[in-house]
Amino acid sequence: MKASRHRRTIKSSDLLAFFYLKVWRPQKYTKTKYKIINMEYKQSPLPFQGQKRRFVKHFKQALKEYPADATYIDLFGGSGLLAHTVKQTYPGAQVIYNDYDNFSARLAVIEHTNTILKELRRLLANYPRSKRIAEPLRSNVLNYIRQQEKAHTVDYITLSGSLLFSGKYATNYKAFAKETFYNRVRKTDYDATGYLLGVEVVRQDYKQLFAAYKDNTNVVFLADPPYLSTDSSTYNSNDYWKLRDYLDVLQVLKDHSYFYFTSNKSQIIELCEWISSVSTTANPFEFATCITVSTSVNHQAKYTDIMYHLKK
Ligand SMILES: C[S@@+](CC[C@H](N)C(=O)[O-])C[C@H]1O[C@@H](n2cnc3c(N)ncnc32)[C@H](O)[C@@H]1O
Repeated sequence: MKASRHRRTIKSSDLLAFFYLKVWRPQKYTKTKYKIINMEYKQSPLPFQGQKRRFVKHFKQALKEYPADATYIDLFGGSGLLAHTVKQTYPGAQVIYNDYDNFSARLAVIEHTNTILKELRRLLANYPRSKRIAEPLRSNVLNYIRQQEKAHTVDYITLSGSLLFSGKYATNYKAFAKETFYNRVRKTDYDATGYLLGVEVVRQDYKQLFAAYKDNTNVVFLADPPYLSTDSSTYNSNDYWKLRDYLDVLQVLKDHSYFYFTSNKSQIIELCEWISSVSTTANPFEFATCITVSTSVNHQAKYTDIMYHLKK
């Protein structure tokens, strides 16, 4: 395929980003052969439960089989990592990111989050790392954060990564204040420069978004729903996901090019295999390519993340 097919029109916002990066953030600036500004993130710039960082490499590799000029729709966008990866891979593609959790709002207050972390580093400067934060320091930390709420939205999910036990998240002050704090404060600032550059952000139920594009040609759906039997308490939709809802998502796969993510904990794949073995219902994964990644939560708990993809 010729490089010219990928060439993107340089807009004034791109030029601004170019100078900003070249001068202020040179470590994030690289020039590609397509003359676009390339800021590649291998993981979400802010903590996000269920982000597909372990699949980025495999996803990029698999994308090579899909068109550079397609419309890619990240139905369950989460942190936007898949949408970001597509845009980096195919700058000429239309990429739609369904930001159902309003992750963009967390990105928008990143500077403020960095200010809070700076003050936490100062407050905890002489406190041992990873240790439980005892009184009166705990109250000082909490009061400071409470105070910050008056001026800005506080990103409790990101702060959880710095103060709560590993893997624990709170989404608001009330829940946050109930938790035990540990000195796990991140030592460097967060940075999301250019993360969503060129990506179209929408926010709606995935069914609406799917309905709007399902009859278009040259569309690839990315479907990474909340996993069955997995903690999704930081998502916008905790009580929504029942078995029927997981089965509904499979409608997206029918007759479309897709990437579908699940884990061996969900048993959806087994269910589809079983249904097609006892009935004439087609298994949506029958001709798909399967890629798995083993994940360990701790020494005992291990599970397998799964990515299926199929080009129609
Ligand atoms: C497993 S996460 C996606 C992670 C994402 N691929 C990433 O790499 O960050 C599933 C996402 O689906 C969102 N979600 C839940 N119900 C939804 C709905 N009805 N429509 C669209 N998104 C929904 C959740 O809030 C969560 O952000």
